[in-house]
Amino acid sequence: MQRFTLPRDMYHGKGSLEALKTLKGKKAIICVGGGSMKRFGFLDRAKAYLEEAGMEVALFEGIESDPSVETVMKGAQAMLDFGPDWIVAIGGGSPIDAAKAMWIKYEYPECTFEDMCKVFGIPELRRKAHFCAVSSTSGTATEVTAFSIITDYAKGIKYPIADFEITPDVAIVDPELAETMPKKLVAHTGMDALTHAVEAYVSTANSDFTDPLAIHAIEMIQKTLVASYNGDMDARHAMHTAQCLAGQAFSNALLGIVHSMAHKTGAIFADYGAHIIHGAANAMYLPKVIAFNAKDPTAKKRYGVIADYMHLGGKNDEEKVALLIQFCRDMNDKLNIPHGIKFYGADSYPTEQGFVPEEVFLERLPEIAKNAIGDACTGSNPRQPSQEEMEKLLKCCYYDTEVDF
Ligand SMILES: NC(=O)c1ccc[n+]([C@@H]2O[C@H](COP(=O)([O-])OP(=O)(O)OC[C@H]3O[C@@H](n4cnc5c(N)ncnc54)[C@H](O)[C@@H]3O)[C@@H](O)[C@H]2O)c1
Ligand SMILES: [Zn+2]
Repeated sequence: MQRFTLPRDMYHGKGSLEALKTLKGKKAIICVGGGSMKRFGFLDRAKAYLEEAGMEVALFEGIESDPSVETVMKGAQAMLDFGPDWIVAIGGGSPIDAAKAMWIKYEYPECTFEDMCKVFGIPELRRKAHFCAVSSTSGTATEVTAFSIITDYAKGIKYPIADFEITPDVAIVDPELAETMPKKLVAHTGMDALTHAVEAYVSTANSDFTDPLAIHAIEMIQKTLVASYNGDMDARHAMHTAQCLAGQAFSNALLGIVHSMAHKTGAIFADYGAHIIHGAANAMYLPKVIAFNAKDPTAKKRYGVIADYMHLGGKNDEEKVALLIQFCRDMNDKLNIPHGIKFYGADSYPTEQGFVPEEVFLERLPEIAKNAIGDACTGSNPRQPSQEEMEKLLKCCYYDTEVDF
């Protein structure tokens, strides 16, 4: 038996933020990030719509990028103090993910962060509040997914919380919110979305329910991501839809080791002054993982199908896989994303010598590989890597060398 779960209502298209007026309740808490939603007027509009719906509104502001366990605990306390029956999270993946984890703690104050991280182990929510997510970036699709990614900074590790209990009740996918994204954010979140769709399509948990969503997302991303990056607003709108379709696919088909590796490398070099941004990590690792997974005959065939839908050419699956890998690498070039960690600058742009020194990478490699194998996304990857293979793969991701094993 498989399960397919999505938000009950998904409002989409320009102006759909107004759907906040339709929520029924007494008290809503709006969870937001560091200021972009306020600056561009979306926070005020959201607050006004909720007040129009007759709700008392409180704000929890300042949720940082790659939110921490501490922020989750603080937000949960604010919820316990205010007692909302709606949690409205607005912004990128970070504030929405943080709000999802706060929601768990709000409903079950005794639940620890460790408890939350038990995959598909969240107790029944919605005893206190329902959840509405409004996305302002075009990548994570957390507005429709059963996931929340929280960083434990003491360990330097990102933990995915995974359970259909945290799939939002209402998703609002208003492309107007995505118009203000800076170029770099468009690039990173867009490649995150492409990775979601590709990993979902070759995941061992794929199904006829998720395949059409993944394939259509890939086709749309191929047509619109670069144009969106270069400022075409019709393309920007299409990308906002495409990433949501990819999210609907992966929330139900799960992901693979591109994400396992991104989760375990993202914050681990923070002591050297930067993060490897989630979408950029995915963009660098995706071509390597395609080469690794293509040794599995089913995955190879499925990559071939993706290449066919993209009209990449190729006479056989071997050639199609190579063309798909080349497509991903070309995307990185067009979006100013490096091809390996060694070349990843502290500002995320390609450079001769990035911020992660070689000796530091090699020293931490066994631990990173072990953690990546243990990540919740590894189980649905089409090929299960050994410790040795994961270390080799990560080395290819560092040096940008070919994966031939
Ligand atoms: N829950 C999931 O299913 C899932 C999937 C993939 C990634 N993630 C997680 O999501 C987080 C990344 O989220 P993200 O990529 O959406 O970025 P983000 O939420 O971290 O935001 C990045 C920056 O962009 C700004 N910003 C957001 N929207 C903007 C807009 N419309 N205009 C201008 N500025 C804007 C924010 O203020 C912030 O400074 C990571 O922690 C990642 O691990 C979650
Ligand atoms: Zn992702």
